[in-house]
Amino acid sequence: MHKETEHITELVLKAAARARAESAEAEDETRISGPLRWPLDCQIGPGLEGAIACESKVGFVNGSKGRLIYRGYDVFDLCAYATFEEVCYLLLHGELPTEDQLRAFKANLVSHRHIQATKRRLMGFPVEEMNAMAALRLGTLLMRQEFTFLDKDFGRPDIASAIGSDEDSIPMETKPYGERRAIYEFRGRWRRRTSLRSPSRDAVGLESCYRLIAGVSSLAAAIARIRQGHLPIEPDPKLGHAANFLYMLTGEKPSPIETRIMDIALILHADHGMNASTFAAMVVASTLSDFYFAVGSGIAALNGPLHGGANEQVIHTLHEIGSPRKTKAWCKRAIAKKARIMGFGHRVYKVYDPRARVLQPLAALASKSHREGARLFRIARALEKDVHATIGRKKKIYPNVDYFSGIVYASLGISPDVFTPIFAVSRVAGWTARVYEYLQHNRIFRPRAMYVGEFDRPYVPLKRRKK
Ligand code: SDX
Repeated sequence: MHKETEHITELVLKAAARARAESAEAEDETRISGPLRWPLDCQIGPGLEGAIACESKVGFVNGSKGRLIYRGYDVFDLCAYATFEEVCYLLLHGELPTEDQLRAFKANLVSHRHIQATKRRLMGFPVEEMNAMAALRLGTLLMRQEFTFLDKDFGRPDIASAIGSDEDSIPMETKPYGERRAIYEFRGRWRRRTSLRSPSRDAVGLESCYRLIAGVSSLAAAIARIRQGHLPIEPDPKLGHAANFLYMLTGEKPSPIETRIMDIALILHADHGMNASTFAAMVVASTLSDFYFAVGSGIAALNGPLHGGANEQVIHTLHEIGSPRKTKAWCKRAIAKKARIMGFGHRVYKVYDPRARVLQPLAALASKSHREGARLFRIARALEKDVHATIGRKKKIYPNVDYFSGIVYASLGISPDVFTPIFAVSRVAGWTARVYEYLQHNRIFRPRAMYVGEFDRPYVPLKRRKK
């Protein structure tokens, strides 16, 4: 770590100490973790709230204590001492890398960051007019085109040898395992035609995870540049992931402090349990599609303002309020309209989001040298007090990861339309890690819908149908 960034480590450790102190009394959810015995009884609400989709060792979100764990490590410790590359390796492989492993992993990312052919194809599309996340999703499909052979005749799984679990093979509403274990299992059956396709060029292997982690950051930076009317910038092989992303965005080599701030922001966004975009990616992969389609689905889900799109909406809210003096009145109107205040609330955290605990002081630090960022931060802090004094305490609504992240990025000179792509630059690690883990014991996702419609309606010929 750079000497100049030691104070950032202090800031993270202080946030951790405060989180631990404030949540000491909270009920501990770790007791609900541990191996499951399927089929499982669990209380499920609309939108699969409370449903347990699978077992995982990748990460754990402790909603009552406001803690986030990646492969057993507290995210506060990872922010204080690790880099985003170490965290990507940890999420994918389950262990922090040794020096040799980290060196090899970084070399892998360096080589996969160069996606000139993909960028050239991307520039054939009207990226400057497209939604940035739509362009990012398109970029992952162009990456897929270049790196996979799955669309050719060879390389497909031997479907005939799979035991299908679609509607034809089991009665629609059979109990779990009511039939012979009807599952897609290609364990060992996925015949590789290695002569035509080297293992590293398939779309369901670890190499694809590395390639997507490296490539999504190059794509996001290139899209931002094209949207500003500039040409993309090639990555600098001497820079790490966070520094390269900032360099590819601005063309300037970032300072150690800017690099550390971006590195921590990427670590904080990397994984978060079975959130909507991770679930979307896993559903697609469970059909034995591939990592590129799965990550594309994660990007599509993350785009929504209820999910990753909130970080950009928060900035629009703060601009709309305009001054710390106006937050109380604005908050009162929003509550009266039952509006969703962007950057607040969470399905799992009913206390302060641990990521916001770190992003708040990071925003304070980053905005110190950025007039507009400092103004937005003052408004954000005033609004936070007003929300807490009104619906916050009563409805357990606190700032979430998206509340301060936009102020951090704005203070680094990044425009709001790049904020949600930055979320994807980080979350591609969690998406690929969870998909890779799930594919080891794949079972196609196929929940049910409770039919509440009519039965036995007689067919009415067209002529006799009433207006
Ligand atoms: C992310 O799942 C993840 O882990 C996601 C994420 C990740 O890392 O992947 O953490 C990233 O998506 C963070 C969330 C970003 N979204 C926003 O900031 C958008 C604003 N927040 C919300 O819309 C909302 O809080 C959700 C969607 C995040 C969670 O909503 P829930 O769990 O469905 O909450 P709910 O609808 O059950 O709300 C309970 C009550 C309701 O009031 P009542 O109807 O009971 O009177 O709380 C209210 C809601 O109206 N409420 C809010 C609110 N969030 C909930 N009221 C005002 N503003 C809000 N932000």
